[in-house]
Amino acid sequence: MSLVTLTSPMNIYLATPEAATHWAQELAEQLPRGGYISLTGPLGSGKSHFSRAVIQALGHTGHVPSPTYTLVEHYASVNAFHLDLYRLGDPEELEFLDMREALDSDSLCLIEWAEKGRPWLPDPVLEVRFDYADTGRQVSLISSDQTWLESLSLKG
Ligand SMILES: Nc1ncnc2c1ncn2[C@@H]1O[C@H](COP(=O)(O)OP(=O)(O)O)[C@@H](O)[C@H]1O
Ligand SMILES: [Mg+2]
Repeated sequence: MSLVTLTSPMNIYLATPEAATHWAQELAEQLPRGGYISLTGPLGSGKSHFSRAVIQALGHTGHVPSPTYTLVEHYASVNAFHLDLYRLGDPEELEFLDMREALDSDSLCLIEWAEKGRPWLPDPVLEVRFDYADTGRQVSLISSDQTWLESLSLKG
């Protein structure tokens, strides 16, 4: 059985962390820029793992720490932001983190626990939902842009 099972463009079973890395690498260049991508799912479901694989696939060679305490990490060389809003006290703090400019630009913006940024944050352009399933993860892509979902090129 393949480690990456594509049940449809929206639902993927990833059996191992390596399969998850590989899938994220394939998706990296195809992810929408502008606005933000909401990464949802319980603690340990793979949101930071996904972000790390994407940012490194785009060409960042250094470390990709979890932004749990810094809230935001900026990767200028690949024009990407990675946020974890779990510890955000007040959504208005996003104003002071200069996130309005980031959202309005063509940056890639990956946000864990984006619901903590509501109502300051608009709707995401894409949700990547992670769930525990068997010993791996079930991942769903949720987008109102059906054309984008159908255009995805993933070998699996
Ligand atoms: N498809 C997968 N199958 C099994 N384990 C995975 C898979 N994807 C990621 N993992 C593991 O699960 C953990 C995810 O941690 P992390 O990405 O920090 O979670 P989160 O950011 O969602 O809290 C890591 O230890 C990673 O190796
Ligand atoms: Mg995380």
